[in-house]
Parts: sequence; structure tokens; C-alpha cells
Amino acid sequence: MAVNAAQEWWQTAVIYEVYPRSFADASGDGIGDLAGVTSKLDYLANTLGVDAIWLCPFYPSPQVDFGYDVSDFTAVDPVFGTFGDFGTLVREAHGRGLRVIIDYIPNHSSDQHPWFTGSRSSLDHPKRDWYVWADPAPGGGPPSNWTSEMGGSAWQFDAATGQYYLRSFHPEQPDLNWRSAALRQAMLGVLEFWLGHGADGIRIDVAHMLAKHPEFADNPVREQPLRNFTDRQHPDFDRQEHLNDRLQPEVHEYLAMMRRVLDDWSARSGRKRVAMAEVEVMPWDRWSRFFGRRDDGVHLPFNFRLIEADWSPQALAASVEGQEAALPLGAWPNYVLQNHDRARLATRLGLRHVRNAAMLLLTLRGTPTLYYGEELGLADLPVGQERWLDPLGRDESRAPMPWTSEPGGGFGPLGVSSWLPPYPDLATVSVAAQLRDPGSVLNLYRGLITMRRSTPALLGGRYETVKAEDGCLCYLRSTDEQEVLVALNLGAESASIELPRPGRLLLDTSCHRRQAQRKRLDLPRYSGAIIELDPN
Ligand code: BGC
Repeated sequence: MAVNAAQEWWQTAVIYEVYPRSFADASGDGIGDLAGVTSKLDYLANTLGVDAIWLCPFYPSPQVDFGYDVSDFTAVDPVFGTFGDFGTLVREAHGRGLRVIIDYIPNHSSDQHPWFTGSRSSLDHPKRDWYVWADPAPGGGPPSNWTSEMGGSAWQFDAATGQYYLRSFHPEQPDLNWRSAALRQAMLGVLEFWLGHGADGIRIDVAHMLAKHPEFADNPVREQPLRNFTDRQHPDFDRQEHLNDRLQPEVHEYLAMMRRVLDDWSARSGRKRVAMAEVEVMPWDRWSRFFGRRDDGVHLPFNFRLIEADWSPQALAASVEGQEAALPLGAWPNYVLQNHDRARLATRLGLRHVRNAAMLLLTLRGTPTLYYGEELGLADLPVGQERWLDPLGRDESRAPMPWTSEPGGGFGPLGVSSWLPPYPDLATVSVAAQLRDPGSVLNLYRGLITMRRSTPALLGGRYETVKAEDGCLCYLRSTDEQEVLVALNLGAESASIELPRPGRLLLDTSCHRRQAQRKRLDLPRYSGAIIELDPN
């Protein structure tokens, strides 16, 4: 559907993150599954109009970290269906022009993975070095001060062999050792496997963690925490500078290996495959490690910057300009406002910011990634700590997708209780209810997606900030033939903006469109508009 034939599909695509457990339950066990996802492909491809889905993990797993603890990298967990269900999903998606990106989790496995049960069984097991093992520190205790993203030390003592293993997340998620050639071979084999079964690309889980300091040097300790946002993950993150437990230069080498596999499949099959790397917020000068200077790393970041930026014109502009400047030739920007690890935007910032957020996300230069339910303006569902299955409480941003207003929200068969309760306000938030309301958030997303697709300046045009003050963020997106101004009033006061040239409204955040030519733009508080400027 690319307007600019020179752009790759992932540069013009809107990617939609599907959390399979929470999207749709076809089997009737209260937990979403792959057949459920397949049953909603018409919604995704036609009603909403996205171009690709990213499927969170559906591999066999004890589910300590909701599938990010994989015990078999090349199979489907019965909770999510069968291997045949995956094939059907891919076939049906491709039949609708939708690409399927899978979650690739190279940094760790489950402790139940046979690789790890072998590795931990003895010091000289052939797979011992497939994981990161180390002797206790000289005076006893963990080999270094590295902290786990789930809190506490990242090292787990294993009495059977008297060594520690590294687990950057839960104790049940031992880190794989990418310094071992045999492990690399095995994990690249996993990639080959899924590409061979139709995957159009990968989202690489915690790509920034793949390469650690070879001698496990301590991280420098930080006295003052740096960040000012509430993050459910990484409770201890800010106490150290994470220089040695991640981001070592070899990360590029490992990502380049993955890229070669993808390129090879693209060449062999004639279908281009994409790599999108989850990269945490870090100084911009480190970003080139992910892409390489010769376009030999990943194609896209999965960029958390907008999630963590202050919701002010200045901070948002700085974040966009930072990425624009940081990406080396060949790499393409990506923007994300929410995902399965963070509080939803309506909860973080408040419902009043949802519409401007949608307009921002879908008009920047780069690939937008939506999280399921974002198009409905969903907030988190407070379920109470006693109901959390995830120790960090991320369940609250993973509640069942509300499809209809009937009891249970149409998530699964009528009468089946879902693994988390349904949203209480189904009569207003559900897909069915919002489709009936021309001014709903869902209809705004649909309008933005359609407009983006038919507006070359939005798909591939240059980006330039023209105003980032007085509560307003305005930027131009332009090709040689078309100039579009996006004006967002993020503040609590109304604003009036003089246009550089007359223009006509393409869409505003109340879903009005195609209004007559104008020279000034009046924006009520918390509202935005897209104006196509008259040719010079
Ligand atoms: C995933 C989390 C997960 C962690 C460990 C993250 O990036 O998005 O859900 O807990 O990686 O795999």
C-alpha cells in the first residue's frame, strides 16, 4: 500500500501489537489464543486498517513472565492453540495483506528449557556455556553488582555446581550467552525456523541486553535516580549506570547476524523481512550500535522515548529531533506510546490527552506501533494487587480487549469468565459501541490511519518542528509536492495559530475533516488538527 514506491513496507506500515492472552478467546478457556487473533483479522486489516501485527510470545512457557520465559522456542503453547493455528493465522493474515511479526526472545530462556536443565546439571556439560555462569566474588556473594529488571541482584546461586547464573529478569529466566558460538547458532536456527513458517519479521526482546561485559565488571553506582516517571519494571534501575550489564559493542555483531538471516530469507522468498529492536531509553550516541553504519543491523528501533518523555511540546519535540539525528543512514524511526509493560497512556497522562497522542503518533516520520486497545483510548483496568498474576502488576495494562457491549465484552464465548475481568464500561469503550459513534476515539484512529496512507507527506515526508512553546507543538511534514502542518495544543488553554500559508483541514481530533480554506487555526484545549497547506 506504499504511496512512495521507494519505501519499504515497514516504513509505510502501521504496526499493531497483539497480546494474544488478552485479545480474543476462541477456545473458551478464558485466555486469548491464536485462533482468537485469526477471528479478528478482518477488524485489524479492514475496520482499523493496520498493515502488520506483532504477536507477543505464544511459545511453550511456564508463564512466569507471561511467555517471555520460553521453554521451547519452536513450538506453540497449548494455552494459545496448536502449531496449525499459527499456520492458519499467517495464511489468513497474508490473505488480507497483513504482515506478521513475531516476538524473538534471544536474551534468555525459561529455567525449564532443556538447554538450561542440561547446562545447570554439571560444570562440564556441553551446554554449560550456553548460559552465563560465574564463580562467586572472591569474598563470596554475587560475581558483580548487576541488578535484575525485576528487582534485587541479577545473579542466582545454584548450589548443585557452586556457581551463580545470570538472570536479568526473574530467577526462572536465565540469560543466554551470546558469546558462545554454539548458542548463537542455535538461536539463529530458531529465527530460520519461524521465517520458514511465514513470519515477516521479528521484534527483538531486550536487544540492548544481548552483550554483557565479558568479565562482569561492576556497574558504576548512582547516588541520585535520574528518571521522574513511574515504571512498573526495573525498580532498581536508576541506582546504577548500566554500562557493563548490557550494551557492549558486540551487540551490533549479534544483531548483524540476525539481519543476515533475515536478508537471506528476503532474497530467497522475494518477501522482505524486518527486524525491530526493543531498545531502552539510553543516550542517543549509543543508538548506532543497533543499526550499524552500513545498514547491516536492525531496520527499526522499538523506541520508548515518547513513553518516557514529559508531555510538553518542548520534551516531545526534543525526543523526535533526537531520534531524527541519531539514526544512521538506512535506519528508520519508530514511535510508540504504549505497550504491554507500561501503564496505558490514558492512565499515565489522563484521558484528555488520548486524541492528541493518536494524532502525534500517526503523523510523525516513522513507523507507528499501536498497542491493542490503544485505538479505543483504553485506560488500565485496576484489578487490585491481590489479583495480579504478574509480580510487577503489568496485568492492569493487559486486560481483555472489549469487543462488544454484551456481558464479558465479546472476548470469548458468552458466559466464560476471562482471566482478568472485563472492562466495566463496555457500553462506551467497546469496539462495537465506538464504531457506532462517528466522533469516537476508534473513529479518530481509523481516520488518521486512512489519511496517513493517502498522504505522501505523512508517509515519507521530511519532519521539521515549527513551534514548541505556549502549550503547542506544531510541525511540518513535507515532500517536494506536498506540505502538511500538524498542530497539537497540548495545554489547558485554547490557542490560535497563524498558518504559514492558507490551507485546508484534513482532520482534527474531533474527527472533523475537509473543511474550507483557512488562514488561522483555532485549537480548543487538548486538541489538534492536520492542515494541508496550499502549494506555494
Ligand atoms: C518484555 C517484558 C519482559 C522482558 C523480559 C521485555 O522487554 O516486553 O514483558 O518481561 O522483556 O523478557
